[in-house]
Amino acid sequence: MSAVLVTGGTGHLGRDLVDRLVQAGHKVRVLARTPQPRADVEWAVGDLATGAGVHAAMDGVSIVINAATHSPIARRGGFRPIDFFRSPPAVDVDGTARLLAAAHDAGVQHFLHVSIVGLDDATLPYARVKLAGEQLVRQSPLRWSIVRAMPFYYLLENFLARLSWLPVWPVPKASFNPVDTTDVAGYLAACAFDGNAGDRAEIGGPEDLSFVMLAREYQAARGLRRAILPLPLSEKSARGMGFVVSQGVRGGRSWMDWLSRCRDDGEAS
Ligand SMILES: NC(=O)c1ccc[n+]([C@@H]2O[C@H](COP(=O)([O-])OP(=O)(O)OC[C@H]3O[C@@H](n4cnc5c(N)ncnc54)[C@H](OP(=O)(O)O)[C@@H]3O)[C@@H](O)[C@H]2O)c1
Repeated sequence: MSAVLVTGGTGHLGRDLVDRLVQAGHKVRVLARTPQPRADVEWAVGDLATGAGVHAAMDGVSIVINAATHSPIARRGGFRPIDFFRSPPAVDVDGTARLLAAAHDAGVQHFLHVSIVGLDDATLPYARVKLAGEQLVRQSPLRWSIVRAMPFYYLLENFLARLSWLPVWPVPKASFNPVDTTDVAGYLAACAFDGNAGDRAEIGGPEDLSFVMLAREYQAARGLRRAILPLPLSEKSARGMGFVVSQGVRGGRSWMDWLSRCRDDGEAS
C-alpha cells in the first residue's frame, strides 16, 4: 500500500488529519522535526526550513498533504508589532518549494496544500507568505489541490484567553465563520482521495458570528464577566485582516460546542 505523507502532522490541524487518515485505514507517514510517541504512523524526521529529510520522506508516497506552517502569531496566540512588518517564509514558501520538488522527483500523484480563506485581500505579512506558498503549488507540474480554511477555534480561544486580565475587551466589529480542525481534517481526507484537483471549495464553520458574539460566548463558557468594546472597522480593513465569511463547505461543530468540549477535555490549546 502506498503511503500518504502528512507535513504538520504534530500541529493542531495535522493531529486531527492524521487521526482521520489512520481511522480510514490509510498508511500514514508524518514528516516531523521531532517524532511523537505514536505507533500507528511512520515517522520521517525532516525539516522543511532546511530541506533535511524531505526527499527521503517521499519513498513510496502517492499523496502529500501539506499542513505545516510557521505562523509566529498562531504559535504565541497573539500579535506583536513585528507581525505587521514581516513573517518568516522558510517553511511556508521555501519549505513548500522543497516539498513540491521532492514530490515531483518521487512521482507523487496528488499534492494537497492547506491554506487560508480570503488571502487575496489580506494584508498581514503572514497572509502574503501563505499566498506565495499557494502560487508555488499552482505553478507546479504536479497534480495539486488547494483547500482554504477559515481560522480555527483553537486560535480564537488563544487570542481571547490573552484578554482575560482586561476589564474591558476591545474587539473588532466584524463577522466571520471560524471552524473546528476536526471538520477541516475530515474534508481534507475526503479531498485527498476523491479524484478531483485544483482550487477546492473553501471550508468554514457553521455559524456567521460577529467577533462581539464570539467573545460573549467565550466569556459565558469560561465563566468570565467583562465589558466588550466593539471597535469600528471598515469593510476593507476587515477583509485585510481576514474577517470574511467563507463560501462552499461548512463544518458541523459550533463555537459553543467546541468551547464546552475543550473545557471538559482540558485540551484548549
Ligand atoms: N490556525 C488557523 O486558524 C488556520 C486557519 C486556516 C488555515 N490554516 C492552515 O492550516 C495549516 C495548519 O495550521 P495549524 O494552526 O494546525 O498549525 P500549527 O498548529 O501551528 O502546526 C504547525 C505544524 O507545522 C510544523 N512545522 C513548523 N515548522 C516546521 C519545519 N521547519 N519543518 C517541518 N514541520 C514544521 C509544526 O511542527 P512542530 O511540532 O515541530 O512545531 C506543526 O506540526 C497551515 O497550513 C495553516 O496555514 C490555519
